[in-house]
Amino acid sequence: MLKPFLFIPLLLLVGAPGFWQQTQSTPQNPSTAAAPAAPAPIPPEYANRTNPVKPTPESLARAKQIYSWDCALCHADNGSGKGDVAVEQKLDLLDLRDPSALKPWTDGQLFYIIRNGRGKMPAEGPRAKDDEVWNLIIYLHSMSKGQASTATPAS
Ligand code: HEC
Repeated sequence: MLKPFLFIPLLLLVGAPGFWQQTQSTPQNPSTAAAPAAPAPIPPEYANRTNPVKPTPESLARAKQIYSWDCALCHADNGSGKGDVAVEQKLDLLDLRDPSALKPWTDGQLFYIIRNGRGKMPAEGPRAKDDEVWNLIIYLHSMSKGQASTATPAS
C-alpha cells in the first residue's frame, strides 16, 4: 500500500532549491579585471539594466549600513579591499576608491555580481531588497568620487 503523504515532503524538497540554479552557459563578459578562476559569466541581459533608483540621503545611509555589515569585512569600510577577511584569506580585491575599479561593469552587471556573488565573493542573495542593492551600487560609485584615479589595481 502506498503512503502518498510521504511523497509530499519529497516533492517539496525537489522543487525548492531554485537558489542554486545560477549556472548559465552564456559568453564570457570581456573584463579587464584579474579573474583568476574565470567566474561564471554574467547573463547578457544584465548589461543593459539601468539603475532605477533615485537615491535619497536615507537610502544611501541604508546602503552604507548594509555595506558595513555585509561587504566591509572584505572590501573594508573605505573600499580599499583590505578588510580583515580579505587579508586573512589573501583575497585579491580591487580598491573601490579608484574610479577604474568599477569601470569594467555596468550597474546592471554589478547588480548581478552583488546578488549572485562572483568567484570568492559570496552572494548577497535575498538579504537586501532590489532597491537596496541598487542604492548599494550608487554608494560604491560614491567611494571614488573626489578621488584622483591612481590607476593602480591592487596587486
Ligand atoms: C568574503 C569576501 C567578500 C565579501 C563579504 C564581499 N565581497 Fe565583493 N568581492 C570579493 C572578491 C574576492 C571579489 C573579486 C571577484 C572576482 O572577480 O573574482 C569581489 C568583487 C566585487 C566587486 C567587483 C569589482 C571588483 O572589485 O572586482 C564588487 C562591485 C563587489 N565585490 C561588491 C561587494 C559588495 C557590495 C558586497 C557586500 C554586499 C561585497 N562585495 C561583499 C570578496 C567579497
